[in-house]
Amino acid sequence: MSYDMNDRHLITFDKDDKVALYTEDLKVWYGQNEAIHGVDLEFEKNCITALIGPSGSGKSTYLRSLNRMNDGISGTNVTGKIMYKDVDVNRKDIDVYEMRKRIGMVFQRPNPFSKSIYENITFALKRHGERDKQKLDEIVESSLKQAALWEQVKDNLHKSALALSGGQQQRLCIARAIAMKPDILLLDEPASALDPISTGTVEETLVNLKENYTIIIVTHNMQQAARISDYTAFFYMGSVLEYDETRKIFTRPKIKATEDYVSGHFG
Ligand SMILES: Nc1ncnc2c1ncn2[C@@H]1O[C@H](COP(=O)(O)OP(=O)(O)OP(=O)(O)O)[C@@H](O)[C@H]1O
Ligand SMILES: [Mg+2]
Repeated sequence: MSYDMNDRHLITFDKDDKVALYTEDLKVWYGQNEAIHGVDLEFEKNCITALIGPSGSGKSTYLRSLNRMNDGISGTNVTGKIMYKDVDVNRKDIDVYEMRKRIGMVFQRPNPFSKSIYENITFALKRHGERDKQKLDEIVESSLKQAALWEQVKDNLHKSALALSGGQQQRLCIARAIAMKPDILLLDEPASALDPISTGTVEETLVNLKENYTIIIVTHNMQQAARISDYTAFFYMGSVLEYDETRKIFTRPKIKATEDYVSGHFG
């Protein structure tokens, strides 16, 4: 089946107060291969936006570019704008380290450090110069509470993070990201390695977090996108064909490819 790649439907917001981050004509190359073909998307504040689409459509590539994680992959080139509070994240001269405090990331596989729960959360803060024990304790508690993990670990903060279950480890990674007080959380299939119960707790955590954060999540799980996201962008072959409110994407998409994908009749 082939789709008309010029057929698109992308919503936009009132940028001044509603948009936390947007990209303009974002392109990503791996060597000679253009993997993202000029994506324009706007992410509304305090909302969850799901990035969906078939394998290889560019979801992770796009997500990684939003806080310059592609920088670490040799041969990549990113052009276009990534605007966050009047700063173009894609400008070569910005302080990437500082930017990542504002735009944090959680990866597909839980990747806690092989340290205690407490140290996982305080490690980066200490590196940024925070030495006040009481303040560190407070941040540990509030981050774990927001990540819905506090009750389960409060008596074992000095035990190894590696002794936690997969779902708990992933919530610890979310707590670790939150401890830096970011505005935006990027998550690439954060629940794909988890069982259904852990997936449920991570989803619940994200829904609660949107009160304070703007969340952008890549997911292969259509039910998950439908359950937790406010907006959904459908990626196909390196472009976004449709971007709209999640309920519209799942009930009456405007583009045939989206309809086929969300209904499982794809390819
Ligand atoms: N490190 C890399 N080096 C070269 N090409 C890459 C690299 N990472 C991704 N690509 C290519 O870029 C395109 C988009 O890949 P990407 O991983 O972003 O897709 P995806 O939508 O996240 O897929 P999946 O759902 O399988 O995770 C693919 O053609 C892929 O082969
Ligand atoms: Mg991916």
